[in-house]
Amino acid sequence: TTSRRPLVAGNWKMNGSAALAASLSQAVRAAAPAQVEVLLCPPFPYLAQVQAALVGSGVQLGAQDLAVAQDGAFTGEVSGAMLRDVGCGYVLVGHSERRTLYGETDAVVAEKFAAAQAQGLRPILCVGETLDEHEAGEAEAVVRRQLDAVLNKVGIAAFADAVVAYEPVWAIGTGLTATPAQAQTLHAVIRAHLADQDASVAAAVRLLYGGSVKADNAASLLAEKDIDGGLIGGASLDADSFLAICQAAK
Ligand code: G3P
Repeated sequence: TTSRRPLVAGNWKMNGSAALAASLSQAVRAAAPAQVEVLLCPPFPYLAQVQAALVGSGVQLGAQDLAVAQDGAFTGEVSGAMLRDVGCGYVLVGHSERRTLYGETDAVVAEKFAAAQAQGLRPILCVGETLDEHEAGEAEAVVRRQLDAVLNKVGIAAFADAVVAYEPVWAIGTGLTATPAQAQTLHAVIRAHLADQDASVAAAVRLLYGGSVKADNAASLLAEKDIDGGLIGGASLDADSFLAICQAAK
């Protein structure tokens, strides 16, 4: 898809162990295709270990969340500066599990996006509609609202150094993947919405699809013109599956 370099990110969520982190990092660094930007997002406790295992490879490191605040008395929180310090280049912002299970509003997500960029991290802004919203025909409106919350706070120029992931909530961890055509439709909506404000930023920004991407459906999703990569949950915990998805993104 045009000059946008494909990006495949593995979101391990709250899974794994030091042993799994070691074996996955090793396997991915050994076989990640150079044409694709490959990113691992392990849980916080394994970031430094994975960073050390990836040194000298092109494989990137990212986190799954960050605090709004930069430092101070915020027990249990992890700042963007700390994530930079341990080698993260990216951070997920607004994953549906954060929105749904931890009450992150559009406003909080926008603050986290801004906090990430203020600390030199590239945010991967996750958007997507729930099953109810999907069935009510509200997918496009929901995604526009989620984008607007961030656009209104940081402006379109900030998207030059960001990634957007479209993850329909009904497809996450369910084995129900959006069809390539369904996913493409929403990716096109996202790109058009950004293009309303700046056509060149919109043309350059990478849009990822997430939601039950597997080795056997990745190629058809990634062939769509506005899908520039994948945000992979379950399949990123298996090196062979994840690497097959990376290959499909070439
Ligand atoms: O962030 C990735 C994600 O939510 C998709 O998860 O397990 O459906 O690939 P999964």
